[in-house]
Amino acid sequence: MLDFEIDRNKFDTLIEINTLINSAYTDIRDLLTKIIDFATRLTAGEASSLLLVNPENNKLYFEIALGSKGADVKRFSLKKGEGIAGWVYENNRSLIVNDVSTDNRFYADISKKIDFATTSILAVPMQVKEKCIGVIEIINKKNGQKFDEEDLQWLEIFATQAGIAIQNARSFQQAQEEIYLLQEQVQAEKGYHTFVGESKVIKDKLSIAFKAAGADSSVLLLGESGVGKELFAEQIHLGSRRNGGPFIRVNCAALPENLLESELFGHLKGAFTGAIQNRMGRFELADGGTIFLDEIGDLPLNLQAKLLRVIQYKTFEKVGGSEPITVDVRIIAATNKDIENEVRSKRFRADLYYRLNVLPIYIPPLRERREDIPLLADFFLKKLNREIKKQILGFTNEAMELLLSYTWPGNVRELENAIERAVVLSQDQYIHHHDLVLTRTGEKENDYQGKSLKNAVNVFKKQYIIMTLEANQWNQTRTASTLGIQRTYLSRLVKELEISK
Ligand SMILES: Nc1ncnc2c1ncn2[C@@H]1O[C@H](COP(=O)(O)OP(=O)(O)OP(=O)(O)O)[C@@H](O)[C@H]1O
Ligand SMILES: [Mg+2]
Repeated sequence: MLDFEIDRNKFDTLIEINTLINSAYTDIRDLLTKIIDFATRLTAGEASSLLLVNPENNKLYFEIALGSKGADVKRFSLKKGEGIAGWVYENNRSLIVNDVSTDNRFYADISKKIDFATTSILAVPMQVKEKCIGVIEIINKKNGQKFDEEDLQWLEIFATQAGIAIQNARSFQQAQEEIYLLQEQVQAEKGYHTFVGESKVIKDKLSIAFKAAGADSSVLLLGESGVGKELFAEQIHLGSRRNGGPFIRVNCAALPENLLESELFGHLKGAFTGAIQNRMGRFELADGGTIFLDEIGDLPLNLQAKLLRVIQYKTFEKVGGSEPITVDVRIIAATNKDIENEVRSKRFRADLYYRLNVLPIYIPPLRERREDIPLLADFFLKKLNREIKKQILGFTNEAMELLLSYTWPGNVRELENAIERAVVLSQDQYIHHHDLVLTRTGEKENDYQGKSLKNAVNVFKKQYIIMTLEANQWNQTRTASTLGIQRTYLSRLVKELEISK
């Protein structure tokens, strides 16, 4: 009767696990934790862990560890053949050791370091197509009992289930990545970038842009250099009903006035020396789609007047022509200049500014949306791995902390460059903080130019203190200790140098 009760319990658990594996689980670690937890209880273990093989270096890493010292054990890894788990991996066979003190395969190091007394271990391989992809271990049978064959057989069944779950999750992830890469490729062939950003502020800004997309109104993108204004413009176009039409880019700062005019509006044969045939302008090319006018703050006044007419009447004339041409184009403009200041100093027409400013979108600098840094860093790492055929797995914690605390004056562009340099230089599986060369040169030189020594030193002091405050989440006590000064002295400096968050 009792035996039947226990088995009934085990079967129920197995059915439960099977149901979970067949459900649309999204979190594989959560599922594995449940499986290990069931297995530990059914075999009456005190603690347990699930280790996965990293195929790059054939080491076993603790993916899940339950029990009183679970969190501590996670920083360890085992080589093939090292310890009981390493033996199971190497031999692809299960093992019961009821007294570790008499078994020389036992690797006492970890137990000692985490101060956990291990007496018995039950360990089985997790297999996928007969290959060992990891190991499940149950530690210390409760009440001084011994693990037996029945425990082992049950654990093998659980291990098979866990193996299937992992395999499913991996193929799903791989399929997702392939779909993603394919989409990216299609977009890239059309000249679009992949937009990365999950921070609330970025999502909010995108949703404002999408809402306005139907209205076809002009958009003015504002923000520091390198924040992603051009990518944002692409997203607005792709999210609008014009997404089947062309997306035409023009950099208004790149050409002298007369060439820019012909670039934008086209010209007729003979309109000026060198105009040997009729030419279509960018506005005509953008018909039915979107035109992106980058660096709009640099548009010469004469062309500002012409642009205003396009916005008001949707018409313009080619250079050397008199016939009005009508186009259906949505305008997205961008600038990193203080455009209101340009208007005040009469370098930018106020009427054009108001027309463009119907929907201004300010894209905040990277340092104000740090949640995006890990995503972007990961994205650039993967992209560069592909481009220069490296297989760097990720960033060390220190490297990521550095990326998160830096101020990124050059924003996403600077982040991309920093990661490119690190990927090229790195000799390791991971990018370390010393691979990241982060400087604020250029900006610094300008800040110091023409200043007395005393003032230049103050500029430096202010920048350095702000940087350290940011690195310490504006905690003054910690900042003072990093700087090696008294807290009271720091708060005096903060006041004197007019530092504020
Ligand atoms: N959200 C993002 N996702 C992925 N890459 C990004 C993102 N934002 C920026 N980048 C990268 O940074 C580079 C700079 O972005 P972009 O050219 O859009 O900046 P910008 O705001 O137009 O800067 P500037 O004013 O200097 O022209 C891009 O080429 C792209 O590689
Ligand atoms: Mg740009």
